Amino acid sequence: METPRLRTGVKGLDELLEGGIPEGFFVAVTGEPGCGKTILSIHFINQGIREEDRCIYVTTEESRESIIRQASQFNMDFRGAVDEGRLIIIDALMGREDRWSLQSLDMETLVNKIVEAKKQLGYGRARVVIDSISAFWLDKPAMARRYSYYVKKILSKWNFTTLAVSQYAITTSEAFGWGVEHIADGIIRFRRIIRGGELRRFVVVEKMRQTNHSRYLHEIDIKPGVGMIVLGPVRRRIEDESLPPEVIKKILKARRKAGEELP
Ligand SMILES: Nc1ncnc2c1ncn2[C@@H]1O[C@H](COP(=O)(O)OP(=O)(O)O)[C@@H](O)[C@H]1O
Ligand SMILES: [Mg+2]
Repeated sequence: METPRLRTGVKGLDELLEGGIPEGFFVAVTGEPGCGKTILSIHFINQGIREEDRCIYVTTEESRESIIRQASQFNMDFRGAVDEGRLIIIDALMGREDRWSLQSLDMETLVNKIVEAKKQLGYGRARVVIDSISAFWLDKPAMARRYSYYVKKILSKWNFTTLAVSQYAITTSEAFGWGVEHIADGIIRFRRIIRGGELRRFVVVEKMRQTNHSRYLHEIDIKPGVGMIVLGPVRRRIEDESLPPEVIKKILKARRKAGEELP
């Protein structure tokens, strides 16, 4: 039986996922600031608009206007989609009083608002982005897991395919609270490094249930007028990337001891 998949709309990424994200999945998108989480989310929603899905974008870090402007830089008409009733952007930053704003970062309010938005958009396949979900447990990280579980349960009941953006604490390099990754059906992780004085960005699919996904780190680019594209694989595997630093250090030490030439 073939799994129905939703394309992400990022050139090259769907090929790493056997065509896209399985319908109804709850996928964590994680990585440091500025590495492409919001841009991927925007592509995912734009693809939904193109395929006539019901689309919802929850924004906690940027205003609704900022998301619309960012999308328009890639020639994606979010304003038009909102006006045509195909997209609802729930603004959780500005604290406004309008129907599609959240006054507080409360999990139950969020879920109720998403369900209300789905009812408004009407029957049909639906996509939702929560950018970011970590914002909802900023002051109570211990609740991360329980909250993620709760959101996942309700959204899957409503048959949403979900991208949940999870923030990375820069200091520890660990997703804040570790909530989403544990319950997610998939994990898409972004990375960035400075090499040769240049900022470079990467993506790796760390997990995608029911999918023979690529295990290679891929370099990405973000281009004006286009958005995110996948450039190609880096010859290092997930195993090389996701080991804790102290483990990597031990391995290198052992290899040096064994007489290997290492950089
Ligand atoms: N129009 C554009 N042209 C080229 N790069 C862009 C453009 N808009 C945004 N970017 C790049 O995307 C980055 C922001 O990516 P974003 O997905 O918002 O990061 P985050 O992972 O924090 O959500 C910016 O720092 C910039 O490097
Ligand atoms: Mg962002």
